[in-house]
Order: sequence, then structure tokens, then C-alpha cells
Amino acid sequence: MTEILAIYPGSFDPLTRGHVDLIERGSQIFDQLVVGVLTNLDKAPLFSIEERVEMLREVTAGMPNVSVDTFSGLLVDYAVRKKARVILRGIRAFSDYEYELQMALMNRELQPNIETVFLTPAEAYSHISSRLVKEIFQHGGPVKGLVPPVVEERLRQKVFPK
Ligand code: PNS
Repeated sequence: MTEILAIYPGSFDPLTRGHVDLIERGSQIFDQLVVGVLTNLDKAPLFSIEERVEMLREVTAGMPNVSVDTFSGLLVDYAVRKKARVILRGIRAFSDYEYELQMALMNRELQPNIETVFLTPAEAYSHISSRLVKEIFQHGGPVKGLVPPVVEERLRQKVFPK
């Protein structure tokens, strides 16, 4: 049987525990999981593409079938280049569903051979988003437990440099 490669795309600005949970789940289902970090974000990211990739590589270092890569342009074009069968996305709540459904259907229209697969993160992470993590941290709030320790440390260095 042919191996199934899945791409888990996102901005990861920054990586959260919810993302890590999804990466772990995806890595247990698919033969290969490529975390695809989007380079050309609409708004300026807090972390550069290099920083986002570094943090992801550190956190996924112990996951042998997970790799971290970057992409720009259309996700489906990238998926075709990587010979991916699946785009993996997380759905935390109903509020995610409409946007995710729209993207999945649009990606299918563009590239019918690639399936979007949705997974739900553990309930404990279903309220976490990169946007809220940044907002809380920038206002001095605690983000312990919301992001991996390496991300917490990088946030500290970035937002409150010594
Ligand atoms: O988790 P995010 O940050 O919301 O990820 C959004 C992402 C990267 C999956 C989406 O913006 C994307 O696929 N961008 C690449 C451009 C593209 O293909 N757009 C059309 C999507 S239908």
C-alpha cells in the first residue's frame, strides 16, 4: 500500500499546545506528517518564519514521522509538490467550522485529489488560539500550559527583552 503523506498547514504564530496535540494525533494516523508553515502572512507576524520553524522543530524533534517545512502561495499547489494526499486541519469549536468548511471545499475545487481531514484537539486545548496567547502575554498574563515551554521562553525574550 502507498504511504499517506499529510500536510498540517498554518501560521503557527506562535505554536500552541493545541497545535502540538493535533500534530501528535496526525502523526499517529498518517505515515508522514509535514507541518507546513505559511511564510507570507497577511499581517506582520510576531515571530519570523525562521523562529516559528525553529520552535516547531524543537517541539517535534522526538516524532520520527513529522517534518517541518515552509510554503508560500496556494496550499494545494504546495500539497501537489509534496505529493500529499491529505490536508490536516483542526476544529476546536463550531466557530471554526464555517471557515474550515469553506477552505476545504475551495481546496477541493482547486485540487479534487486532495482530501481535507479534520481532527479535534483534546478538550483541554479547545479554547487556545495563537491570537489569544499573544494578547494575554503582551498584557502580562500567564500563558503557562497554553504553549510549549520553548514557546513561552521565546515569547518572554521577544515581548519583554532584558
Ligand atoms: O491556522 P491558520 O493560520 O489559520 O492557517 C491558514 C492557512 C495557512 C491554512 C491558509 O491561510 C492557507 O492555506 N493559506 C495559503 C493560501 C491559500 O491556499 N489560500 C486559499 C485557501 S482556500
